[in-house]
Amino acid sequence: MVILTSPSELQVYLKQLRQRERTVGLVPTMGALHAGHASLVEASKAGNEVTVCSIYVNPTQFNSATDLRSYPRSLEADCRLLEEHACDAVFIPDNEAIYPEPPRTRLHFGELESVMEGRFRPGHFNGVGLVVSKLFHMVQPDRAYFGQKDLQQFLIVQRLVTDLSFGLQLVRCPIVREPDGLALSSRNARLTPAQRGVAPALYRALDQAREMLRTHQGVAQTKQAILGYFSGLSGIRLEYFEIADGEDLREVSDLRNHRHLALCIAAYLDEVRLIDNLLLTNPPDPGA
Ligand code: PAF
Repeated sequence: MVILTSPSELQVYLKQLRQRERTVGLVPTMGALHAGHASLVEASKAGNEVTVCSIYVNPTQFNSATDLRSYPRSLEADCRLLEEHACDAVFIPDNEAIYPEPPRTRLHFGELESVMEGRFRPGHFNGVGLVVSKLFHMVQPDRAYFGQKDLQQFLIVQRLVTDLSFGLQLVRCPIVREPDGLALSSRNARLTPAQRGVAPALYRALDQAREMLRTHQGVAQTKQAILGYFSGLSGIRLEYFEIADGEDLREVSDLRNHRHLALCIAAYLDEVRLIDNLLLTNPPDPGA
């Protein structure tokens, strides 16, 4: 695996690939890689001749300095995991390479960023949009791979690709879960054993909501039940649970007229914030 740390090294590497008309898949990450990221690398390898993974903890998408400081970093283990999955190249830029000057451009994504992650993490999607745009310009991939766990991020990046004509294909990869349902996340590494025991509550709540909707219990009743479920748990604080349209994430009050539903959840275990979601075809099907 080739390790590239500067944009100029990346350009030299990509130039010889383009001369040979190789297709390139990009897997953007912030490191602390796990099997979820490995599945993105595998998907990219299946769809492209060359896979480039980027590792960069992007400061502009963090709205808390503590969260940025405590974000897990494990570069050596990350490179080992990428080697094991035969990733072709890893791009590990520093802050100077990505933000030679403080960015003054601001990106707005309209209603898509006024809900859920956008509502609770102001400025987060501006930061994601900036760094993803820079990585797309630097790598110019044919395809880019994102996980469904960050569903709102995926939809935001989809808007970015359309609005700024990036001319690449976005691929959304399924959530990878632990056997007890917990969605894999770099933040799971920060959970204490006790918190790890409580964390599957997010998935259990989503599963319960899916079942309630499948058995024709209404949106309000389902939301109420999920609030009740969390109020009976200790060590975890629900931030939001939403039933939204699967395409634009607008809040759903009546299940009719929505082809897809997104059940989205965020909760805190002390300082560790976890998110999860289920995407369902409507009417919900138990195997979805
Ligand atoms: O999903 C992530 O890890 C990050 O938000 C991304 C897309 C790499 C941008 O920093």
